[in-house]
Amino acid sequence: MEVIISKTYDELSKAAAKAVAKTVNSKPNAVLGLATGSTPLGLYKELIRMHKEEGLDFSHVATFNLDEYVGLRPSHPQSYHYFMHENLFNHINIAPHNVHIPSATAGNYRAFCESYEKSIAACGGIDLQVLGIGSDGHIGFNEPSSSLGSRTRIKTLTKQTLDDNARFFKDGEKVPIYAITMGVGTILEAREIILLATGAGKAEAVAKAIEGPVTSMNTASALQLHREATFYLDEAAAGKLEMREYFEWIQANKPGGAA
Ligand code: GLP
Repeated sequence: MEVIISKTYDELSKAAAKAVAKTVNSKPNAVLGLATGSTPLGLYKELIRMHKEEGLDFSHVATFNLDEYVGLRPSHPQSYHYFMHENLFNHINIAPHNVHIPSATAGNYRAFCESYEKSIAACGGIDLQVLGIGSDGHIGFNEPSSSLGSRTRIKTLTKQTLDDNARFFKDGEKVPIYAITMGVGTILEAREIILLATGAGKAEAVAKAIEGPVTSMNTASALQLHREATFYLDEAAAGKLEMREYFEWIQANKPGGAA
């Protein structure tokens, strides 16, 4: 596990974008796992810039999003379908048939979740998974107590997550309480994982994920079991790490100055 601490959110976003670009450049038909939330917005902005100014090519890339609220149509401004198109897909040359986002209006959720897992496998698995983290340590919508072996399924969101995400919804509009999410087991099968976190509100969840025990009570802590997981943090999100100096020491002394 690697921990990269950036001075600013902008720097963090650019560092994460470099990791995504490296994957896409080395494998033009790479399969990316993507996240929503406010945290990856800077990363997506930088990927759009790289596409427009540097020719970063997404024409053969496939994507799988982590999650979606149950009951929101793709045209709903708070749906993750809408978010992804507004903030990334409408601005790059990705082929619409290569975009996969859980369908939150499927009649038969169980069958849909199984078919989502099959589609990921049929594309050869996820090469690089992008994650954010909830203030309770969730990845995707794998709330505390989710099985670390879980697969794509419906989850009931915690009150804390509903409160955290209420800021995106209009006054009086209810945040959906169910979501379809890739499981922790699904996420851990990605060949490489990057988790982005910004702000002091994430510091505790981040410290528990990196330095705490591996536990279903903080599903991001499962990344400790992954061979290629990197946390991209800004200073505020790194604020509660006990090993912070060591993580910075590692970055300053990489063997051979490797990037
Ligand atoms: C939601 C998403 C997560 C995301 C989290 C944090 O719960 N399902 O994938 O990581 O929000 O969001 P933000 O980046 O806005 O803090």
